[in-house]
Amino acid sequence: MSTAGSLQGRDLLSVADLSRSEVEGLFDRAAGLKAEFRAGRRDAQPALAGRTLAMLFQKPSLRTRVTFEAGMAQLGGHAIYLTNDVVLGTRESVRDVARNLERFVDAIVIRTGPHEVAIELAAHAAIPVINGLTLREHPCQALADLFTIREHFGEFAGVVLAFVGDGNNVYHSLALLGATLGIEVRLAHPPGYAPNSRIVERAEALAAATGGRIVFASDPAEVVAGASVVYTDAWTSMGQEAETEERRDAFAGFQVNAELLANAGPEAIVMHCLPAHRGEEITSAVMDGPQSVIFDQSENRLHVQKALLVELIGAPDLAGQPAGGQP
Ligand code: CP
Ligand code: NVA
Repeated sequence: MSTAGSLQGRDLLSVADLSRSEVEGLFDRAAGLKAEFRAGRRDAQPALAGRTLAMLFQKPSLRTRVTFEAGMAQLGGHAIYLTNDVVLGTRESVRDVARNLERFVDAIVIRTGPHEVAIELAAHAAIPVINGLTLREHPCQALADLFTIREHFGEFAGVVLAFVGDGNNVYHSLALLGATLGIEVRLAHPPGYAPNSRIVERAEALAAATGGRIVFASDPAEVVAGASVVYTDAWTSMGQEAETEERRDAFAGFQVNAELLANAGPEAIVMHCLPAHRGEEITSAVMDGPQSVIFDQSENRLHVQKALLVELIGAPDLAGQPAGGQP
């Protein structure tokens, strides 16, 4: 369990901003909030009454938008969705947007392309800034994913996550968070689609301290063999649409289908951050099959982000309390 208010007032730009005990504390709180939600007590803990969240989204979203908005409402607060109204750096500088928003609201979620924009916003805003996806990282996704893995297997010891596809933002956050939590994270990617080498170095350094491992192979079957989690994401991320055809060719052998999944064994679970392109990176049979926990992952975005919001912007006395029955 995290110490009282340990995340109070902080930014979440990268999963590497969090220690293992902070992540575990967040997951305990999320489990409590999920239990309340499942019991129908959706607003049992209005920990964010009077709090407001600005959501600066420069890319489309279903899950991130709706889970943050619904989460704020369930916690007694309010979210304001801003899209083309605020053209960051064009109508107004990033610095000036930060210096206005910090006077109005309690936290900001930003979804944009360049990670540097999120860093700049956070540097100039005195309130917490949460990365709701940049081309470098997707920390809220990885937190929900590792929470889902803990829910499924009960612990992180012995977990092997095999990512098949692009060394992208989702892989980066999974590698960093997986390394923090001491699991093995494998990647099979086609030539030319390797992850950012600095992030890999950081993940390797974290893994060296926790007993985790960061592993690469060119053959999807090789990384999937013996894995407990088989993970994939779109071959073309938002903002890369001009490369769609080229990527479809490059990733042709990297589909998660029944044949590939057979290498992992029947106990393995299948994950995808969504949105999925059925018939491309994953088949419908696998996505809708018995090993898929894809929609659990999606659901857990709600509970994990609610826990995060309570820790970042809840009143210090509430933020220090576990939100439900879990120890
Ligand atoms: N996984 C995810 O972040 O989904 P959205 O792009 O719909 O928010
Ligand atoms: N890698 C994908 C994730 C979408 C949630 C993208 O950046 O578009």
